[in-house]
Amino acid sequence: MNLEHICIEVCNLSKEVGLFIRTERLSNINIQVEVKGLHDFVTHVDKTSEQKIVDKLSKILPEAGFIAEENTSTKKGDKYNWIIDPLDGTTNFIHGLTPYAISIALKENDEIILGVVYEIGLDEYFYAWKNGGAYLNGNKIQVSDKKEIKNSLVATGFPYYDYKRIKPFLETLEYFMVNSHGVRRLGSAATDLVYVACGRFEAFYEYGLSPWDVAAGAFIVQEAGGKVSDFIGEKNYIFGKEIIACNNLVFDDFLISIKQIMNN
Ligand code: IPD
Ligand code: CA
Ligand code: CA
Repeated sequence: MNLEHICIEVCNLSKEVGLFIRTERLSNINIQVEVKGLHDFVTHVDKTSEQKIVDKLSKILPEAGFIAEENTSTKKGDKYNWIIDPLDGTTNFIHGLTPYAISIALKENDEIILGVVYEIGLDEYFYAWKNGGAYLNGNKIQVSDKKEIKNSLVATGFPYYDYKRIKPFLETLEYFMVNSHGVRRLGSAATDLVYVACGRFEAFYEYGLSPWDVAAGAFIVQEAGGKVSDFIGEKNYIFGKEIIACNNLVFDDFLISIKQIMNN
């Protein structure tokens, strides 16, 4: 299997579907919004985009199944499965804000081997394949070389369910407000992760995320030289609903801080 070739095909299909998403945004002043849950929204654009992505990926790798947010296909593959978020940052999209992105990862058995995040607002596609390095619009990218939290810009997302952990989470915000360059909440976890991969952020953490939010971005961080774990330093960050992603130099200190505050 030529992973580089598949990766480029996935970038091209993301750009095509991204164009559809951007055009819908510009031509529909009032996008019809369905409420999936409190603070959880979906539009016809999320669903149509996913269907387009699934149709195209089915041609690229017919034997692969899907783990896709809007459930347009529930086919399961024996060895290969695509993990898809057709629109990460729906709340931004609805409000006419950026960033919002398409996130697509390919899983072989239990391992991610390819990831593409296309951030539509700035027309930036981030991608990586196993042992091939990570790229932004054709140029190789790397995590930043900042060594200390005090010199780091930190990204996170605010929980919209599972409020039981909100108190320690608010403490982490206080800690990083005081001890880092600052904290950002962009509204697209896939974008947060690829911004760590290209050195715009030193660190990202969030709990309550789903596999389609993180699978591609976390893989791209690792191919760009960064480190990823759950809140206790283990590897259960794709299905485990909590993730830390950092450059390789601040990772250990960042993990200690999160571990201490979030697990108290
Ligand atoms: C959301 C975004 C957001 C994060 C939420 C996710 P969606 O994805 O990634 O940044 O904080 O937890 O659910 O719903 O826009 O695909
Ligand atoms: Ca998402
Ligand atoms: Ca989504």
